Amino acid sequence: MGMADAERAASLLETLLTPDGPPPCGVTFAPTGLWAQGDRRLVPLESGRALLLDHDEREAPVRLNTSDSWDDTLLVSLTDEEETCACAWARVPEGSSVAGLGIDLASTQDFAGERGARFNRLLFTQREHELAPILGGGNLALGYAYAFAAKEAAFKALAAPLRRWYQTHQEELLFDVRCFELADANHESGTARKGQAQRAMDMLGIATIELGRMTLGDKALTIAVARRA
Ligand SMILES: CC(C)(COP(=O)(O)OP(=O)(O)OC[C@H]1O[C@@H](n2cnc3c(N)ncnc32)[C@H](O)[C@@H]1OP(=O)(O)O)[C@@H](O)C(=O)NCCC(=O)NCCS
Repeated sequence: MGMADAERAASLLETLLTPDGPPPCGVTFAPTGLWAQGDRRLVPLESGRALLLDHDEREAPVRLNTSDSWDDTLLVSLTDEEETCACAWARVPEGSSVAGLGIDLASTQDFAGERGARFNRLLFTQREHELAPILGGGNLALGYAYAFAAKEAAFKALAAPLRRWYQTHQEELLFDVRCFELADANHESGTARKGQAQRAMDMLGIATIELGRMTLGDKALTIAVARRA
């Protein structure tokens, strides 16, 4: 991935965060595996600094600060697809409505052909079957790749609110990626509907999950931002 891709992705993230400033944020790409440090990840930033990431109990990435404790004011999400790895991050100010961030890459080819069609029939809802041709702009497999990446990015965007929830609650909030469904394809930034994750989002105080999307070669990239009510 070149600088231009990273700039486009960073500007997509900024647009999604814009009502809040936007805060310091960015998207970094690298070849898959480059950031791995055992179970941790070391993601170099353009500023010359680096983010050291650990995993929480649900395998979601969380930033480690210099005293080796988790820094929940830095929202971070990772994805890797074939040869490409991406990291989105944002430092949100206290009181911001932004509560979570998710990023996901999906390969168009996984949703094409007979194998893709079988997978698509199993995974997507009626609404998503209707939205995929619009999302893909004539490329149906791309439309499905966007819809898939939207589900995964939305799921990931709830990781930080969930982590906070478990600091003070015993009750488990269970949902999976299929609980998220695209609401519309008319805007550059659609909203993921809550579906069966409704209850969990209500308990977490999350009102909306906003989405932004772009292509990266033959891949669909989606960024999701979870906002408090
Ligand atoms: C989390 C999930 C969406 C990741 O998608 P994927 O296609 O496997 O992988 P991607 O390349 O897009 O993303 C991988 C990154 O996701 C992140 N990730 C993993 N689990 C996560 C979680 N629960 N929340 C947020 N991010 C998570 C990790 O950073 C991982 O990269 P890393 O291992 O290098 O740190 C997928 O594994 C999933 O749906 N898991 C099911 C979990 C589930 O349903 N749990 C139910 C209980 S709440």
